[in-house]
Amino acid sequence: MDSLSSDPAALLRWYLDAGVDETIGETPIDRFKAPPPKAAKIEAPSATIIPARVTAPLSPLAGKLTAEAPPSPIVADANSTHIAQACTTIAELKAAIEGFEGCGLKQFAKHTVFADGNPQARIMFIGEAPGADEDRQGLPFVGASGKLFDKMLASIGLDRATNAYITNIIFWRPPGNREPTHEEIAVCLPFVQRHIELVDPAVLVCLGGPSAKTILATAIGITKLRGKWHEYQTPGLSRPVPTMPLFHPAFLLRSPQQKRFAWHDLLAIKKKLAESL
Ligand code: URA
Repeated sequence: MDSLSSDPAALLRWYLDAGVDETIGETPIDRFKAPPPKAAKIEAPSATIIPARVTAPLSPLAGKLTAEAPPSPIVADANSTHIAQACTTIAELKAAIEGFEGCGLKQFAKHTVFADGNPQARIMFIGEAPGADEDRQGLPFVGASGKLFDKMLASIGLDRATNAYITNIIFWRPPGNREPTHEEIAVCLPFVQRHIELVDPAVLVCLGGPSAKTILATAIGITKLRGKWHEYQTPGLSRPVPTMPLFHPAFLLRSPQQKRFAWHDLLAIKKKLAESL
């Protein structure tokens, strides 16, 4: 250890050998945080998220949820709203996100992770953020949780090559897989909202708490949100989209006893898709 304390390069190598290849703290410090949007400079009409409405409770286990749920404090960023709203195709949106420099996470990421699957699909899944595997390959859900996710899709007759479309609420990997900050979510949110408008799915599925809370603009946790249909609507959508929050596959890998609830919800999703034909 003596030579380590006198040789910084040796110390760094020692850390790398020990698997310490990122510097993260207990709480995230957003050093690239965009300055707060200047009020009233850009009008962002569709940036306002309409709080979710519950339509059809499916499970008595899922707890009680009312329309009076406190709204999420996340307010879509005005600058990215302006850019996202100008996109009229998915290709334009992808290019806009890849060229966007307003989210500090991009500086640490190898790839922008936009989406995978068939954009013509009638069902759109929205996860949280890319992990290390997704960052390496530039595609969502390709790591361990992606393998379980593919099995979940297959269990209800879906696959990303033909009839499912997948994205995340964040397009760049947060270092050390930490949870995205409110600022990072707020900056990406207008792109996600525009993405949903351009795909115009018959059914929307939020994977995990951060995705469900962001999309449904609620502070309620996933355990209470799942198992019920909610409605998602922005001004760019012609009608409310039925939305089901589902346990995140990474959570199911850690808590396999919860898979029965996910199975219950997957069957409800299958039924809703069949009904919406
Ligand atoms: N978890 C997510 O939420 N999204 C991914 O793309 C991968 C893991």
